[in-house]
Amino acid sequence: MVAVTVYLALAATALVFAYFRFVFRFRRENEAPYVPGHFLWGNGAEFAQNAVRFLHKSQKALGDIFTIRLLNQYLTIVMDPHCYEKFSKERRFDFDPIQKQVNNNVFGFELKSARKMIYEAGKKVNGRYLGTGMEAFAANLQEVFRNIQQQNANPKPEGAGDDAQWQSEGLRMLTSRTLFSAVFYTIFGKSASVQDIPDFNPQTFHDKFDTFHKFFNYLWLGMPVKLFPKACDAVKVLFQQPLSQDMLTRDGLSDYIRFSTEYMLQHGQSEQDIMGHNLVFLHVNYNTFRVAYWCVYQMLEHPEFCQDLAHELKEAIEARRVEGDDAVGFTLEDIDHLPLLDSFLKETLRLASGVFMVRYVTEDTDFDMPNGETYTVRKGDRVAMYPPTIHMDPEIFENPETFKHDRFVNAKFYKYGKELKNPVLTFGSLCPGKRFSMLQIKWFLMNLINSFDLHLPEGERTQPNTEYYGHEILPPTHDVKVQFRPIPDAPALFFVPRRSPRS
Ligand code: HEM
Repeated sequence: MVAVTVYLALAATALVFAYFRFVFRFRRENEAPYVPGHFLWGNGAEFAQNAVRFLHKSQKALGDIFTIRLLNQYLTIVMDPHCYEKFSKERRFDFDPIQKQVNNNVFGFELKSARKMIYEAGKKVNGRYLGTGMEAFAANLQEVFRNIQQQNANPKPEGAGDDAQWQSEGLRMLTSRTLFSAVFYTIFGKSASVQDIPDFNPQTFHDKFDTFHKFFNYLWLGMPVKLFPKACDAVKVLFQQPLSQDMLTRDGLSDYIRFSTEYMLQHGQSEQDIMGHNLVFLHVNYNTFRVAYWCVYQMLEHPEFCQDLAHELKEAIEARRVEGDDAVGFTLEDIDHLPLLDSFLKETLRLASGVFMVRYVTEDTDFDMPNGETYTVRKGDRVAMYPPTIHMDPEIFENPETFKHDRFVNAKFYKYGKELKNPVLTFGSLCPGKRFSMLQIKWFLMNLINSFDLHLPEGERTQPNTEYYGHEILPPTHDVKVQFRPIPDAPALFFVPRRSPRS
């Protein structure tokens, strides 16, 4: 018994020493100042409480670059938004170990020849693929909207007032049944010949993904999924996907999934790896869902903004309507030329983002700040920019807490008297899906505004949950109920993959 106690005591002491050796270090000359923190877990608690508040406070005390510690991890934070371009281009700030950490720790696989694969796959949502991807998305969206309209078309019960036309539903479910379903089918297509797996459907996947995603930050940091029974249950369902050969036969399968599946098969990766990668793709698209959720919520909370958006859309429809046609076509360029919608989306992205732009430092690197000072960032540490601190900076955005739908119409933004080239950084610098995702959300909103009246019942309010800072897009603190009803005789909108010669 005594021997066991002595052995445990020695082991514990060794562990403590190992941790301290790893964690405690002296700041070298030329390094950014360290933010004082708890001797064991560093700045983790304050960071988790409200990352933006904590980083703004540290900036006030220490300036535009400083180092924090999250447990044993040193992280140098660059706060000056004018550093964005330099930060993104610095080759010794590497995203690959971060992406590997997500793949390994969260989705349980390793991507072979990852850089080439991500680069090539990223092309499948850009250039000429943007039009085909949008065409598929628009067709899927039209179908889900049609289903909802038909469900709502039941005749009014006799004696019922106007209220009988309104349907009521949670906003999460409404956005899931519409946008998430359309995104899901645009990624994975539909089963043509193979018997479908019952759980491989948008709503089950959305539910399970919601549950799993709550644990994302813990898993990312390396905690085993087994510690979280709810995440384990969700993962079991999420891995019930068609095998790769069946996936490749599905109608309307996205070019992205087709390419990545074939690439992974050629590199000898297992079915489990391919399914893990499919979930990574679903994960990035899940952000599109969350942004759409916030857009609809802002329209509901501010009906006057919704009216302005509807007015802009009506004018665009009238300008494109061909006499005698019931449907009105929009090209990619047409969707882009709606300045108020564009501003509304950017404002939503500004307020809902919780994203980190984080990189691994591959060599000691001298980083020049715009004020002429140079700081050395240490090899093996991480370095980051945290867009929400920029998005909530009152010097850049007047009254940053307030949602202002036209904030970005013909506007410029300044920090330290100099114009910012990129004031909204929700997609970081590397995301290849930025344009596709923004177009999908705009098209979704155009169709929603065109086809439905929406109403937020008295007392229904929510807000972004800042406990989830670190997620690309913050979830709501809780869901809200919404009421909606189809607009009779609304013209159908259809997507035109290319500008027609006549326009
Ligand atoms: C609202 C939707 C989305 C948001 C907010 C978002 C955000 C981000 C962010 C913040 C990063 C890290 C960038 C950095 O650190 O510089 C990223 C990376 C990435 N995103 Fe997105 N994303 C979205 C949609 C998409 C879509 C639709 C795709 C589909 C192709 C996509 C594919 C990727 C990939 C492949 C990476 C990793 C890039 C690399 O390793 O070089 N994302 N995204």
